[in-house]
Amino acid sequence: MTRTGTAADRWRELQDTRGIPPEILATAPESPWRHDPKHFAAPADPPDTPSRDAALALLGEEGPRRGPLTVLDVGCGGGTASLAVADHAELLVGVDHNPGMLEVFAADCTTRGVAFRTVLGEWPAVHDQAGIADAVLCHHVGYNTVEFPPFLIALTVAARRGVVMELTAQHPMAWLDPLWVRFHGLHREPPATADDAVAVLQEMGIQPTVVRWERPARLPEDPEWVARRLCLPLDRVGEVAEALAEIPPRPRVTVTLSW
Ligand SMILES: C[S@@+](CC[C@H](N)C(=O)[O-])C[C@H]1O[C@@H](n2cnc3c(N)ncnc32)[C@H](O)[C@@H]1O
Repeated sequence: MTRTGTAADRWRELQDTRGIPPEILATAPESPWRHDPKHFAAPADPPDTPSRDAALALLGEEGPRRGPLTVLDVGCGGGTASLAVADHAELLVGVDHNPGMLEVFAADCTTRGVAFRTVLGEWPAVHDQAGIADAVLCHHVGYNTVEFPPFLIALTVAARRGVVMELTAQHPMAWLDPLWVRFHGLHREPPATADDAVAVLQEMGIQPTVVRWERPARLPEDPEWVARRLCLPLDRVGEVAEALAEIPPRPRVTVTLSW
């Protein structure tokens, strides 16, 4: 596919090609997008990462204060991004369109004695309910967007001091592309990458600080989850497990963008 136009157009086109073709989706016995919110629970002991460092730098800035030092976590899931800096903030605001995620976030904040507020809904539509925060964090949500500029503008406007966005170096589901070929004969276009996200920001006049780093390897992927994602029935989980064993281990390159 030849791509022309702006970086935002390119992002939209790349993201549009990531969908599941309707004829494959029609065969799915279960929703391929279902996530168990419990899998997104924040670690008790947050790892030291460039994203956490960038958030701490924002929270440590000297300057006039307006109310409690606040962190807005957009697409918070269980709150991994904001709870990692909760000791340096006075209020966490979690935004998510999945109520189950907000329940996990709220329960964890309560257990840890962290002041919080939740906003249920789709970013950027709910930006006015979320309000302004000192630091705005948005981890592993960018590739869920198709129309990127309004999403990014709302993050930027909501931040009194700055925004920290964490992304995988390429679309987080791109590693499944060989399995789409194997099980469905579906050859996908190349995925969007963090460089494409940077290009959209630059086009908006924002020059983010970019830090690339590697997260530790994860446990082997759950073949049942992968089968569901590939719209396959449970009786094919064995075949999926065999296919997964043939995929070489992938580096988990992660990118922190801050502005
Ligand atoms: C991959 S999870 C990441 C969760 C968390 N930020 C983390 O790093 O562990 C993406 C989360 O963003 C939420 N989400 C995706 N797009 C969203 C949007 N436009 N508005 C609100 N929530 C969104 C999903 O429900 C999910 O909880």
